[in-house]
Amino acid sequence: MKMKTITILAIFFMLQCSFANDMFWSKTGHRTTGEVAQQHLTRKAKRGIDKLLNGQSLALVSTFGDDIKADAAYKKFSAWHYVNFPLDKKYTDVEPSEYGDVVMGIQHCVAILKDEKSSRADKVFYLKFLVHLVGDLHQPMHVGRKEDKGGNDIQVQWFGKGSNLHRVWDSHMIDAYNMSYTELAANLPRLSKKQKKAIQQGTVYDWVEESQDLAAKLYTSVEVGENLRYRYSYVWWSTVEKQLQKGGLRLAKVLNEVFK
Ligand code: ADE
Ligand code: ZN
Ligand code: ZN
Repeated sequence: MKMKTITILAIFFMLQCSFANDMFWSKTGHRTTGEVAQQHLTRKAKRGIDKLLNGQSLALVSTFGDDIKADAAYKKFSAWHYVNFPLDKKYTDVEPSEYGDVVMGIQHCVAILKDEKSSRADKVFYLKFLVHLVGDLHQPMHVGRKEDKGGNDIQVQWFGKGSNLHRVWDSHMIDAYNMSYTELAANLPRLSKKQKKAIQQGTVYDWVEESQDLAAKLYTSVEVGENLRYRYSYVWWSTVEKQLQKGGLRLAKVLNEVFK
């Protein structure tokens, strides 16, 4: 191969790497949330879910929402994973996106599951999607600003390699921690019944606000171009854990309510 060809290929490859946005809470993150939820289901909910999923766990199906992104047939769901609106506005104060968003996605899934007339296939599809979306809602950068696509356009480095703020929160910190979802779920902070109940309080609108408040802080947690390393994870890891745990507890609340 000529040198010129090699150079062009190398440049193409590098661009490819820097533009490819993962854009999802890592598989491990989603599974951890699914696992926490699984541990907090009522007996009735567990039975109803088992029937629909043929015994598959919530952890297993939690990545479904991202898995189907590879199929063009599901393109219409691509905006369901996040919601972007100004940090100084409330979700309910802004015009809803015509493409849908994570809040509408969750509400749609719940409605399908509650409707006796829904087909079994639809119930299975929207149950899997619901598990995924409640996880996404708790990745704070999924409730971000439109102008930077929830931090996707905020370039930073992760251990010297090009990345962005969104990806640091989607996957870098969780992947660097290098634990399985079962290990993560088993080692989350111990909470009393009362603390769990407090986390499960409120509605999807409250939870969106909470993620947004957190996102606002995260936008100020980095300088553009900064090389994030151990120190960043050290500061923010407990927040990652809390988000995974809250997502799981709240998913259980939603599912217990659906399969009542
Ligand atoms: N694309 C545009 N905004 C996004 C966000 N907040 N999260 C994930 N993907 C996005
Ligand atoms: Zn993401
Ligand atoms: Zn997603």
